[in-house]
Formats: sequence, C-alpha cells, structure tokens
Amino acid sequence: MTEPVVAQKSPIAIEVEAGKSYWWCACGMSKKQPFCDGSHKGSGFTPMKYDAEATKKVFFCACKNTGKQPLCDGSHKKL
Ligand code: FES
Repeated sequence: MTEPVVAQKSPIAIEVEAGKSYWWCACGMSKKQPFCDGSHKGSGFTPMKYDAEATKKVFFCACKNTGKQPLCDGSHKKL
C-alpha cells in the first residue's frame, strides 16, 4: 500500500485540549477518523502524533493527501 485511503473529502473539526496528544490516522483506514484505531497494521503507514499546545478547534485532514499533516491544507478539493 503506497497511497493512503481517502476517508472523506472534507476535514474533521476536533476540539483539542492543551497538553493532550492525539494520534492522527495517516493510512485512511481507521474507523475512528481522524484518529488511528490500529487498522494500519501491515499497510506500511504509521499514525502521526499531534501535541495540542492550546485548547482550540483544529481541522484534521481526512482525505490523507494534505501537505501539512495532520491538518487540512485544502488538498481534498483537488481529489
Ligand atoms: Fe490509519 Fe492507524 S489506522 S494510521
């Protein structure tokens, strides 16, 4: 598997908490988008850690084609 699965063509807004860490699904196969549920095993993909520095709403990439992992950069519009 070299290309990630497009989980959906729009970002997922999450209210993150300052000081907490989150594991973003990079493979696109997780059933708990935008976070990793372990489905990547054997795919060659691994999740990416996101450390929240502030409590705020962030938009995690769900198309998995962003250039600013793990956040949305609008790349889903080109898919
Ligand atoms: Fe996609 Fe873990 S399930 S990176």
